[in-house]
Amino acid sequence: VNDVRIGVIGAGVMGNIHAANIAARVDGARAVAVADPHAQHVEECAKRHRIDTVYPGATEMLAAEDLDAVVLCSPGDTHGELIEATAIRGVHIFCEKPLERDLARAKAALEAVEKAGVKMMVGFNRRYDPSVRAAVDAAHSGRIGAPLTMHVIARDPVWGSKKKPPGDLFLDTTIHDLDLASWAMADEVEWVSAIGGVAGSRIDDPDWALTTLRFVGGAVATIDNNRLSAHGYDQRLEIAGTGGVVTTDNERLHLASIRDAEGRHYARPQPFFSERYAASYVDEMRAFVRCIRDGGAPEPDGRDGLRALVLAFAAIRSYEEGRPVRPAEITL
Ligand SMILES: NC(=O)c1ccc[n+]([C@@H]2O[C@H](COP(=O)([O-])OP(=O)(O)OC[C@H]3O[C@@H](n4cnc5c(N)ncnc54)[C@H](O)[C@@H]3O)[C@@H](O)[C@H]2O)c1
Repeated sequence: VNDVRIGVIGAGVMGNIHAANIAARVDGARAVAVADPHAQHVEECAKRHRIDTVYPGATEMLAAEDLDAVVLCSPGDTHGELIEATAIRGVHIFCEKPLERDLARAKAALEAVEKAGVKMMVGFNRRYDPSVRAAVDAAHSGRIGAPLTMHVIARDPVWGSKKKPPGDLFLDTTIHDLDLASWAMADEVEWVSAIGGVAGSRIDDPDWALTTLRFVGGAVATIDNNRLSAHGYDQRLEIAGTGGVVTTDNERLHLASIRDAEGRHYARPQPFFSERYAASYVDEMRAFVRCIRDGGAPEPDGRDGLRALVLAFAAIRSYEEGRPVRPAEITL
């Protein structure tokens, strides 16, 4: 079987992470082209990962190359249009989260994917993190009995003053945890409630929030997000069931600890996502390539991407209106 021929769209942080993994750690695939209007980004990405051809845009790349798949790493508000342009050519898609930032475009993109019969996987990489996966396996297998409550702590290091579109915390950060909680609890959400505020110095949009999900079957999940974590990237979760509890801890810079008169001291957590979730980016790309080569369904897929997007909009509305919001209220 020939290598899966991949075109990378967007040569920023995630484009480079995926291109590096495809080049060195994912068997059966090759990045043959990269597209990005940012000339320096696209040239550097191609050089770094030995990609043959560069394009100023996805349209040019899709027209000129015989691709099996694209890895879509441009900003979220470009995804819908690019998914449609890709699907129509019969090319499979790995789409970074969020699926879109606009609900109408997300739905149109999903329809295009389903109509074309191509595969689309969405980059909720936490599903491929070994610790997260082990915890969710414990919930799914009955090892901790029936899951009752889940607590996700996902705090980013200080983001600083970079201007972000409204609702960015929910659409960009919480969205990972909305997918994670839906997957772990294996149930649909009845309502979403979000409270939070602005605690950083130079942004006017929430930079911390506590989001609660009530599931149809009665279970509850809380998601504690902020972009203000002084001690680094704080990523933990706990699921409590009728027969036990499963907990994950942060991965640290190193595992040495010092005991002294004050107690025991550990190194801080890994700095941010590219370090903490390095293994998950490799594994999700292997899974994507495998589902193209061997058949099988991508996981998570476009439906999961849309579900998480609807939940993120419900969280935003709840935050704004100060009341629980049902996903069904989020319509076009
Ligand atoms: N899964 C994760 O852990 C994770 C982490 C960070 C970002 N992301 C997601 O990955 C995506 C990219 O984020 P990033 O941090 O790499 O951003 P980035 O700003 O580093 O890179 C984005 C790149 O896309 C290019 N671009 C803009 N419009 C384009 C277009 N129409 N066609 C092609 N390229 C275009 C930009 O020039 C830039 O080089 C976003 O959807 C983001 O939410 C996911």
